[in-house]
Amino acid sequence: MAVRHFLDLSDAGGNAIAAMIDDAITRKVARASWPKGQPDADAPLAGRVLGMVFEKSSTRTRVSFDIAMRQLGGSAIVLDAGTTQLGRGESVADTARVLSRMADAIMVRTDDHAKIEEMARYASVPVINGLTDRSHPCQIVADLLTMIEHKKPLPGLEVAWLGDGNNVLHSILEAAALMKFNVRVATPAGYEPEAEFVELARAAGCTVTLTQDAGAAAAGADVLVTDTWVSMGQADSAEKLAAMQPYRVDAALMAQAKPEAIFLHCLPAHVGDEVSEEVFEGPQSVVFDEAENRIHAQKSVLLWCFGLIG
Ligand code: CP
Ligand code: NVA
Repeated sequence: MAVRHFLDLSDAGGNAIAAMIDDAITRKVARASWPKGQPDADAPLAGRVLGMVFEKSSTRTRVSFDIAMRQLGGSAIVLDAGTTQLGRGESVADTARVLSRMADAIMVRTDDHAKIEEMARYASVPVINGLTDRSHPCQIVADLLTMIEHKKPLPGLEVAWLGDGNNVLHSILEAAALMKFNVRVATPAGYEPEAEFVELARAAGCTVTLTQDAGAAAAGADVLVTDTWVSMGQADSAEKLAAMQPYRVDAALMAQAKPEAIFLHCLPAHVGDEVSEEVFEGPQSVVFDEAENRIHAQKSVLLWCFGLIG
């Protein structure tokens, strides 16, 4: 079998993503109330080691992959790029080949997506995208799991994105193409997602609406999603913050969605900016289920990479 890299959701495809979500639900239910570090009964990745390379900060991705490996019976090593030779200029190609000799899989969080593609070209073990400037597929597996758990079957779902057209939105659009839901995107002019992702979803038959009207995007939606207005590595300009003000997810905007709509945010959140405290702490917010689901989703991603799902 060819090495299974998970650089974007399309690497797995819709059927495998559906299988990942099913497996995540089964494993989550089977170990409910167990200590979090206790391995699952079958410990399917016993003896396997994941190497994690971080060129950007992380709380959820770092901890969820570490706990995911423990629950699957394996272990993980964290490499902060600043304290590795990669951070001193050792090439991505050499780092990939060395880590492939020492670990069974590699997870990378970096800036330029081309770096993770290069890592995958040189690695002889699976490479997983733990976020790049272009996409964040692991987050979206957790988001899809959260939607399904909250009784939102994916086909035909109306998902509204409010704010910055960023890496997380790109992966949502890719997920839409694979799982057949519709996306209403409300951003200020100049902050739209890359056209490539919009076209991908449209080509798959999804309705993707691009608008500057937050209310129009939210009206009748099943799921409202936002993220930080300033992603890691982006410039924090007064002009951008001013442009984003009408896209804050507040109670008035939430009230335009379906009454049973849920609110998602990958976190970390800047409460008061992209989301009001009332919504963030309110009954429709499922952001901490979403955060916990990073563990369950990342287990599925790992099992897919090792050929044990899909
Ligand atoms: N949502 C997410 O990826 O969080 P971290 O940056 O903390 O990993
Ligand atoms: N869009 C955010 C996501 C953080 C998890 C960023 O790239 O900083």
